[in-house]
Amino acid sequence: MEKLYVYLYLLATALFILGLKRLSGVRTARGGNRLAALGMLIAIVAAGMEGVGSGGLSWSMLLPAMLLGTAIGAFLATKVEMTEMPELVAAFNGVGGLASAVVALSFLANHTADGSLIDLLSEAHDIESPVSTAITLPLSILIGIATLTGSFVAYLKLGGKKMSHPFAGSSRHGVHLLLGALAIVSSLWMILWATNGGSQWLAIVVLVVISGILGVFLTMPIGGADMPVVVALLNSYSGLAAAASGFVIQNLLLVVAGSLVGASGLILTRIMCKAMNRSLGNVLLGGIGDDSVAEDAREYSNIKESSPEEVAMLLDAATSVIIVPGYGLAVAQAQHVVRELANELEKRDIQVRYAIHPVAGRMPGHMNVLLAEADVPYEQLWELERINGDFQNTDVVIVVGANDVVNPVAREQGNPISGMPILDVDHAQTVVNIKRSLSPGYAGIKNPLFELDNSLMVFMDAKEALTEMLKEVKEL
Ligand code: TAP
Repeated sequence: MEKLYVYLYLLATALFILGLKRLSGVRTARGGNRLAALGMLIAIVAAGMEGVGSGGLSWSMLLPAMLLGTAIGAFLATKVEMTEMPELVAAFNGVGGLASAVVALSFLANHTADGSLIDLLSEAHDIESPVSTAITLPLSILIGIATLTGSFVAYLKLGGKKMSHPFAGSSRHGVHLLLGALAIVSSLWMILWATNGGSQWLAIVVLVVISGILGVFLTMPIGGADMPVVVALLNSYSGLAAAASGFVIQNLLLVVAGSLVGASGLILTRIMCKAMNRSLGNVLLGGIGDDSVAEDAREYSNIKESSPEEVAMLLDAATSVIIVPGYGLAVAQAQHVVRELANELEKRDIQVRYAIHPVAGRMPGHMNVLLAEADVPYEQLWELERINGDFQNTDVVIVVGANDVVNPVAREQGNPISGMPILDVDHAQTVVNIKRSLSPGYAGIKNPLFELDNSLMVFMDAKEALTEMLKEVKEL
């Protein structure tokens, strides 16, 4: 029973894997989240048992930290709005990266005093290959710190802050390459000095600073609609940093949990890249998406304003309606009223479906989560590929607070969303756009959809507009 923690590690690993599996289905996701949370609790207790058993830690140190973390988590879970979730995820990725870097740095601090790193590692950890630790030590610092600063930039960008890279055009690639080379040199410097018994603190400081700048510079130019890919990638990096620090301190659970996060983050990145029609290299190196707001973003002609009353009459005469939810639906919290309107239309034998764009909103699956909250039947949610051919046979499309995902300029070259698949709402008989103004969407560009002859604008908050439409439809 002395090594009970090993069995608990195994149990935690199984719960992580089961949790991840269940998270991939809409219906099972909540249960999956609970399983993974239970796995994390078991993992923390088991790590505490191992630490206390080896004499390095005490429960009086661990319990206050666990209580503090629980209190912060509970506070965030109740206070953070759904629309702020992407920022929270970015922040979590960042602190995850920092935690891994701190593990590696504290390992170095503990083993610096008496000289050679390799001697110390072999002695303290009885490991076969100190070389692997010599590689993973700088790697956890590099990836961890770059994840921290990159996530900080992503956090600001997701909150609407515009920023541009200090080096314009392709010159930035040269700067990134140079920084990458400097990171490798300072890593070697740190390890060589350490293994020769010297002090490596200067090399560590250089490595930390370069990693921080690299994280900022790599995230800064990625703008407009490509942020989902970056957040998924940073998530993967935070896992890789954790796995690397697991190798450093020879904690197998950290290696496993980090690898799971790294791999699932990478799968999500691939899904996001496919959704955006981007190659990963393109996003990372190309810095697609100028993050500024286009000058003509608010200059429109041929705008036809409509009212909920007019739209209600259009709906009453329709036989098929498609609802396209976007970020504005989440801001307005209009998911319940949109379902009520859909129910009312269905009572009149009007076919109603929801068209879901993979990056609508601000986080993967954002629209699915919102609509599930309002009990919209899953069968009514149609993915982009499945529904795009049907818009041409649809009487009315209601675009609720969506912009970039229905912007036809994506079909043209030379703009931040070029090549991104969009919902072909402009092919429908009539498109009703509910938004408060002519402000651009996340990518900061003009949307010519609003100027088309078959396009009507309802300039209102989504919840208010839909509530009024529902009232008008009921009165018809
Ligand atoms: P956006 O292009 O961001 O457009 C949202 C629109 O909602 C805005 O034009 C805004 O116009 C309107 N709006 C805001 N509050 C509203 C309210 N209370 N009532 C009615 N309308 C409101 O949204 P989208 O079409 O869903 O596209 C998502 C964008 O975010 C894409 O560029 C995507 O790449 C990016 N992004 C996505 C993710 C993920 S993973 N989904 C993560 C990060 C970034 P007004 O201000 O005029 O009302």
